[in-house]
Amino acid sequence: MKIIESKAESAVSYGGLIEKIEILRSTLRWASKLDRPQIQKLLSQCNALRDEVMKLSHKERFVKASSAAKSNRKQTTAQRRKALLDRSFVFEGVFGESQKLLDALEIAEKAAPTDLPVLIDGESGTGKELMAKVIHANGGRAEKAYISVNCGAIPENLIESELFGHKRGAFTGASSDRSGKFESADKGTIFLDEIGELPLPGQVKLLRVLQSNEIQRVGSDKVVDVDTRIVAATNKNLLEMCHQGTFREDLYYRLSVIQVTLPPLRERKDEISLLIEFFSDEAAEKLGRRPIKLSRRLRTFLMSYRYPGNIRELRNMIYRMACLAGDVADYEHLPDTLRADLPVSKEDKEAEMTEMSLSEIKRSASDEAEKQFLEQGLQTTAGKVSELARHIDMNRSHLQTLLKKHGLQSKDYRARS
Ligand SMILES: Nc1ncnc2c1ncn2[C@@H]1O[C@H](COP(=O)(O)OP(=O)(O)O)[C@@H](O)[C@H]1O
Ligand SMILES: [Mg+2]
Repeated sequence: MKIIESKAESAVSYGGLIEKIEILRSTLRWASKLDRPQIQKLLSQCNALRDEVMKLSHKERFVKASSAAKSNRKQTTAQRRKALLDRSFVFEGVFGESQKLLDALEIAEKAAPTDLPVLIDGESGTGKELMAKVIHANGGRAEKAYISVNCGAIPENLIESELFGHKRGAFTGASSDRSGKFESADKGTIFLDEIGELPLPGQVKLLRVLQSNEIQRVGSDKVVDVDTRIVAATNKNLLEMCHQGTFREDLYYRLSVIQVTLPPLRERKDEISLLIEFFSDEAAEKLGRRPIKLSRRLRTFLMSYRYPGNIRELRNMIYRMACLAGDVADYEHLPDTLRADLPVSKEDKEAEMTEMSLSEIKRSASDEAEKQFLEQGLQTTAGKVSELARHIDMNRSHLQTLLKKHGLQSKDYRARS
């Protein structure tokens, strides 16, 4: 009997899928008798087909199927970003313009107004929690509770009571009835972070919530209705966990009706400088200092580093530098663990210690020129700001902002009588 071999890496397409299904059908139709191993093999082919259908539906249903999305391929990422803003999609604080990030945002845009569960996957620090908040903020539940639970941070024996609540006396220490996170998130959204850490008994209960929208507190027979939108996140490969038997397959398929994948920072290298700038400004504001400048070699290093901790790691590094460095940050302000394998000799270090990047030298020279120009103007007009504004054809309030930036005061230039 001919049984098709399933190729995990084969390109997924509807045509290919239908062909595989047809082969499977004719195998079954003409089989006079099947033994157990053959049944097993056919079953595993069915499972593989189901995986492919899921993959296709993730891709097609929420990105390619909509006609708006079809034209996306022709747009630049900047245009796609602007289009999202024009459609009033709120994603404040999410920086970056890679195709993959925009794919993720566009899926989130379509998923947000529905109540469908969303599974966000990506390495640690790629912005999964940020994305969950974006989904909540753009949905019909935005005004209601957003409750975040880190399934990996709660001891295994307490997790069910944390999620579903417990009845008094359900276990030692349960001194009174208590509601769980699901009840707190009623009518709102619950964010289940590190869902791969949820132990199997908790998975069974979660599946039940997804199927029937009801929970049972630990130790109680009473069923409580809940209306909670579920957004889950993981940095694990849940499908692989399903194959190993540590994650329930039925739960996986329920949770991942919509899947949003966030790319690691090393696949969005062109965004690093944008993020550096954003975090430097943010750190400057929080720490009450001028934005940090980077030595050229430090910038080169930051642009090529692999960031196992992704955006979180970059953000922490910039904050660290903003706290420890003077005007210019250099290798010495990197965490010790990174300094250990930096590619420079000692002499280089002395020589380049305070060297700035070309763009920083340019910026500081242009700042200096601007200041001199304004000083001269104030002298010529004897400190009359509106006259100077007219003279140099600049909006008056913009001129005031510039004067403030350079610490120039018009009264210092007024003619003294
Ligand atoms: N695209 C982004 N733009 C700006 N900041 C981001 C972006 N993605 C993540 N961050 C920041 O990086 C840090 C880690 O993000 P988080 O959502 O907690 O990641 P994860 O949940 O995947 O570990 C947070 O401070 C978050 O605000
Ligand atoms: Mg997280």
